[in-house]
Amino acid sequence: MKRLVILISGRGSNMEAIVKACAAEGWPASIAAVISNRPDAGGLQFAAERGIATAVVDHKAYASRDDFDAELARIIDSFSPDLVVLAGFMRILTPAFTARYERRLLNIHPSLLPAFTGLHTHERALAMGCKVAGATVHFVTAELDHGAIVMQGVVPVQPGDDAKTLAGRVLTAEHRIYPQSVRWFVEDALVWVGDTVQHRDGAAQQLLLS
Ligand code: GRF
Repeated sequence: MKRLVILISGRGSNMEAIVKACAAEGWPASIAAVISNRPDAGGLQFAAERGIATAVVDHKAYASRDDFDAELARIIDSFSPDLVVLAGFMRILTPAFTARYERRLLNIHPSLLPAFTGLHTHERALAMGCKVAGATVHFVTAELDHGAIVMQGVVPVQPGDDAKTLAGRVLTAEHRIYPQSVRWFVEDALVWVGDTVQHRDGAAQQLLLS
């Protein structure tokens, strides 16, 4: 049984998709805790209603990133996780933090990495005239939005799209590729090949939505 800790900052729809898939598909895993850096994160209520332990580490209460990350790690470690899942967790993490959870820290980013690291991915994809967009699940390293790619979901950019409609389409893909990626981790189906990650049995690590 693998223990998961999920970090959120907002509505937590990816966290919700993971929690529901874990229960519905009977993963060999339990959600040990959902932790937020914002006391008002909408997803905390969903987690609490499901009987999942919740905690808040409010970044505003800490003088430095180092102090915040140290306390965050202390709270995370109190739940003894095998995997830490960043699900819309909107804080830049220090190298000490990412090193502590090396190869057991996942993130989802709403672009087809390595394009559009950072914020405002959908606006930037539209401004570039991209014809496809998507999301990436990757292991976290010290470099923002880098690290081995576990899975990517690709969606078309449609004529007339704005950032909101495109974000909605990408989110549909996110809700499929993130649970799938976490499931592979808890099933020990991910194999490191150098600095990349492959599925043990060659399962498709991309989702193409039309
Ligand atoms: C998602 O688009 C995720 O890719 C990005 O932030 C958003 C979080 O949404 N990092 P939610 O909180 O999971 O609903």
